[in-house]
Amino acid sequence: MTFVLKTDAQRAFEWSRHFAESAPEIAFRLWPDIGDPAQVRFLATWSLPPDLATTLPNLELLFSTGAGVDQFDLSRLPGHVQVVRMVEPGIVDGMVEYVTMAVLAWHRDLFAYLARQRTASWEPIRVQTAASRKVGVLGLGMLGQAVARKLAGFGFEMHGWSRNRREIPGVRCHAGAAALPGFLASCQALVFLLPLTEQTLGMLNASLFARLPRGATLINVARGQHLLLDDLRAALNDGQLAGAILDVTDPEPLPPDHWLWSDRRVVVTPHIASMTQPETAVRSVLQNLRRHARGEAMVGLVDRTRGY
Ligand code: GLV
Repeated sequence: MTFVLKTDAQRAFEWSRHFAESAPEIAFRLWPDIGDPAQVRFLATWSLPPDLATTLPNLELLFSTGAGVDQFDLSRLPGHVQVVRMVEPGIVDGMVEYVTMAVLAWHRDLFAYLARQRTASWEPIRVQTAASRKVGVLGLGMLGQAVARKLAGFGFEMHGWSRNRREIPGVRCHAGAAALPGFLASCQALVFLLPLTEQTLGMLNASLFARLPRGATLINVARGQHLLLDDLRAALNDGQLAGAILDVTDPEPLPPDHWLWSDRRVVVTPHIASMTQPETAVRSVLQNLRRHARGEAMVGLVDRTRGY
């Protein structure tokens, strides 16, 4: 029974070490040196190898090495293969840090001060209390919940939206499509954290921006394909949005001559908000393998009809 990892050399080195330490009984191999393909029951990867159904005929579990699974074309996978998202504390901590940085930078006017520094302008802006600021997290999965909880600790008026109702201390949770406009009206800063599916593709568009309070700031840490860039530019130009902090773009990498790089109202980072940490990732994969062996539900199991 073989577990195959397909990734770059540095990550492969670290995963191999943690597997050898924690689960020496598992035959762990690195793509493309997979041994007997018929023995491969588990695969961890970011991108699907070609002809997966024929190359790995006995595959049971496909682990994404990242939090998302939108990069997989699930229609290419045989129906019996179970797909598992990466749910591990390293990804959660990275996301909480990044969004906290972005929300505090917005709240404490860091971008305005960076601009003023360039012109040597000593020009204070009155400090607002966190309690007077409304922040919303759109998407309350594992990541969104952790982000909302941390931000609530600063005293912001926190709002969250999800398809199904959640209860998070210190967060006003809105649920379902009918509650979306009311939620959006409460977001001076909107943190976007929904998975990319057919339903959410292009969801960050003019009609959504129009429902935000005027002068809102967008923080997109989900996928570039969620955001319609022409609509973003129009909303920035007419003042409906004051700014955007984007960790994800479409395409990635963003071409050097793209307008997002040079627009002073936009901050772009190269998809680094959070990264899978090999040690904790291996621990969570091993826990899921044990759950699977006992016939228990795995953490992060993807509903293939829902797409996440
Ligand atoms: C990164 O975006 C991931 O899905 O892990």
